Amino acid sequence: MTLGPEIRAEMEQIKQRYPDPRSALLPMLHLVQSVQSEVTTEGMALCADVLSITPAEVAAVATFYTMYKRRPVGKHHIGVCTNTLCGLLGGDAVYAALSERLGVGHDESTPDGKFWLERIECQAACTHAPVMTVDWEFMDQQTPASAIDVIDQLARGEEVRSTRGPVIRNFTATERTLAFPDDGLAGEGPVADELMLAGLRVAQERGMSAPTAGQGN
Ligand code: FES
Repeated sequence: MTLGPEIRAEMEQIKQRYPDPRSALLPMLHLVQSVQSEVTTEGMALCADVLSITPAEVAAVATFYTMYKRRPVGKHHIGVCTNTLCGLLGGDAVYAALSERLGVGHDESTPDGKFWLERIECQAACTHAPVMTVDWEFMDQQTPASAIDVIDQLARGEEVRSTRGPVIRNFTATERTLAFPDDGLAGEGPVADELMLAGLRVAQERGMSAPTAGQGN
């Protein structure tokens, strides 16, 4: 799908959010991915034109951050955290099982375009290790069997919910949310659960608190 005048208008809208227009580049690139499932050369040229910067400057950003892809992601992006905590608690096994099931490796998509598999970095969700993400929604405390079950349900077109509540949509829908976060879905799922609050509870019981800003400088 090409990027029509309505996408340019939306990029202009995003640009208005920031005092320095080039700060809009990251959500604009997500907008490109929401339409084309990748950051295309066409998309980078449009971003550059709207922001009055060079395509090379856009490419430097688009190729630095791993959330931007230069090949079509397809329907669902599957991330498996294999950083230290998740890896040790089963993330490596989850990744290996999914890689075998889907027949693809890191940063590759299945030939039918249904799944893109990626080893991802720590998602700041170590309390729920090992974690997997589906279109950047959390699937907590996965096992090889539960992860394969998620893939199979999605492949059959069944409704799948993140372990935190929200219904899994698809990659491009999530990319749209990253470009325009006020989609009314922020309240879906729990805000914090027992595991997330455990550290806070212990700190409160022991009278611990964070140092105030600037203290110790
Ligand atoms: S190591 Fe996986 S979420 Fe932190």
